[in-house]
Amino acid sequence: MIRIQNNIVTCLVVVTLLAATSAYAAETAADIKQRIGSGNPVAGKTRSELCQGCHGEVGLSLEDLIPNLAGQYAPYIAKQLRNFQSGARTHQIMSAMATTINDAELIDIAAYFASQKKMQGNGKGDNPVAKNLFLKGDASRSIQACVTCHGENGKGMAPNVSTYPVIGGQHKDYLRAQLIHWRSGERSNSPDGVMNKIAKSLTDSEIEDLTDYLAGL
Ligand code: HEC
Ligand code: HEC
Repeated sequence: MIRIQNNIVTCLVVVTLLAATSAYAAETAADIKQRIGSGNPVAGKTRSELCQGCHGEVGLSLEDLIPNLAGQYAPYIAKQLRNFQSGARTHQIMSAMATTINDAELIDIAAYFASQKKMQGNGKGDNPVAKNLFLKGDASRSIQACVTCHGENGKGMAPNVSTYPVIGGQHKDYLRAQLIHWRSGERSNSPDGVMNKIAKSLTDSEIEDLTDYLAGL
């Protein structure tokens, strides 16, 4: 009896490990469903025509200062839009854009962009300084390793953990602008100011290296 139970336990462990491995290898329909949240992507597609003009039809923008939204977590997108509406985050264009939609529309639009294939970098950003900061951080300067929150390759944590945005494969110029704004305090809408604390010690050249690296992931 004990032996049978042990076998069952072994089987469960193997199944769990396989499930964990495949979650990194490819996104399953269940993963995508989780990051979409409660909104309706079909309604969101129609309602987001104006947004698509800048962010791209499937959330891949052609302009480097305009962020990709493809495969971003819907609750993260929704939070940013509400932050633009309330003034917790400000940007001349987006603060105006966010006032054109109500909360139900915002949730559907977020679901539409989240339902797209996750943004991918060009694979060119390999850089030892950035890789080290990304994977290990620098405790002496209170720089926490990016990977602990933004996940492997900056693609986010589990599909149901939406606090930490996808940053791997995002546009370089957009990432640079955000890190500079976190560092100066111009952007201050992260929980407990976590991104302000992390960016505070980054030098210009580290920001250059990090954003090159992240855009390539
Ligand atoms: C005229 C171009 C333009 C239009 C139209 C536009 N956006 Fe944006 N959007 C931007 C730019 C530029 C930024 C970067 C803001 C910054 O640097 O802080 C941005 C940022 C965002 C972000 C933050 C993304 C992140 O990773 O934090 C979200 C979410 C967003 N836009 C959603 C929308 C939605 C939804 C609409 C339609 C209602 C829309 N945008 C329309 C240009 C545009
Ligand atoms: C302790 C967790 C944590 C760590 C470590 C962390 N981040 Fe973040 N980061 C966040 C959170 C949370 C947000 C979203 C803030 C918000 O809600 O606006 C964020 C947002 C960002 C954004 C803005 C993304 C966008 O789409 O606008 C960038 C860029 C970023 N982080 C880069 C980094 C880099 C580079 C590192 C490593 C040097 C790092 N982060 C480490 C938690 C973290």
